[in-house]
Amino acid sequence: MNLFEVYKLWNIEPVRGLDTTLWDKDGVEYTDLYGGHAVISTGHCHPHYVKMLSDQLGRLGFYSNAVQNSLQSDLAERLCRISGYSDYKLFLCNSGAEANENALKVASFHTGKPKVLAFRKAFHGRTSGAVAATDNPKIQAPFNATSNIVFAPLNDLEAVDNELSKGGFAAVIIEGIQGVAGIYEPGQDFINGLRSLCDKHGCLLILDEIQSGYGRTGKFFAHQHYGIQADIVTMAKGMGNGFPIGGVLISPSIKASFGMLGTTFGGNHLACTAALAVLDIIESEHLIENAAKIGKYFESAFKGHHTLKEYRGKGLMIGLELKDEYVGLRDRLLFEKHFFTGAAGAQVIRLLPSLTISQDTAESFVNAWNELTSKSL
Ligand SMILES: Cc1ncc(COP(=O)(O)O)c(C=O)c1O
Repeated sequence: MNLFEVYKLWNIEPVRGLDTTLWDKDGVEYTDLYGGHAVISTGHCHPHYVKMLSDQLGRLGFYSNAVQNSLQSDLAERLCRISGYSDYKLFLCNSGAEANENALKVASFHTGKPKVLAFRKAFHGRTSGAVAATDNPKIQAPFNATSNIVFAPLNDLEAVDNELSKGGFAAVIIEGIQGVAGIYEPGQDFINGLRSLCDKHGCLLILDEIQSGYGRTGKFFAHQHYGIQADIVTMAKGMGNGFPIGGVLISPSIKASFGMLGTTFGGNHLACTAALAVLDIIESEHLIENAAKIGKYFESAFKGHHTLKEYRGKGLMIGLELKDEYVGLRDRLLFEKHFFTGAAGAQVIRLLPSLTISQDTAESFVNAWNELTSKSL
């Protein structure tokens, strides 16, 4: 039997990692500025993370959500405190798509309404509700098609108001910063206006912070740069540094009832331990501050760079839109200079490194970029 081939793979197999360094099976060293798609938040194989998970595995790896699990309540308490959402409630699941799926359900249960407004170019995951709210028909099966989701252009308040005025909306869902689209931010006036429109039309504001959250942009959640509060916040990726876990922060105005949501694996002992280890490291190593600092360095190195049409993003969620003649640079960075980076289409290189990235590593990437682009391509 073989694998169902849905991924286009590089012919590289990493077998070992330490912080922002990876080694493949032949011992070749790479620098990781992609973090396995924004997942590695506290570096590969951080000793504290390895120890906490190993110790927990030796005690108890899993039990179901039918019994007390104080790791879950510790995580809820820590996460709510560090994120500033101190009176919110936490529901735990296993992935980003699942977090959004549950957020959409909660909004619909709470309001009793069926519709959701999402944004053009948004990516919210591949399960049925999440993929329906994702603006990419290529990844929606006919089964996923629903008239309950409508799309509006990002940063167009009038379009949002027109749609919400039609009634029946449970929620608006928006990424803190659009990631898969190529790193696009909502404007300050737009996000303020969106908050007011949700209140005016009696629907909930869901912030998808699955890629942009967990300190990546220099604040715990990207939307906190704008000073607004969401009714529901979803997270995953950096939350477990690679151990599958997702979470939904839910406003205290929304009441839970038994059986409303549920999952077998969500909030299991290992997942909670991974998430607690990540929060320990984020706090003790001041990683949110580091994300802001190294982000500023990248911005100063790349903003206005002769290879770029545009520099976008905040902190360590960066989109480098290449001029046409530099398309192909991502492969050269990987194969000639051994730097992993992300992409959004052929034109945009995405940097999503671990929040532990050092100034030296950041500089070595900028030097490699300059070496490749100072010669003809
Ligand atoms: C903003 C956003 N939401 C949701 C998801 C889906 O997360 P997962 O792949 O864990 O289901 C992603 C994944 O890239 C994402 O970037």
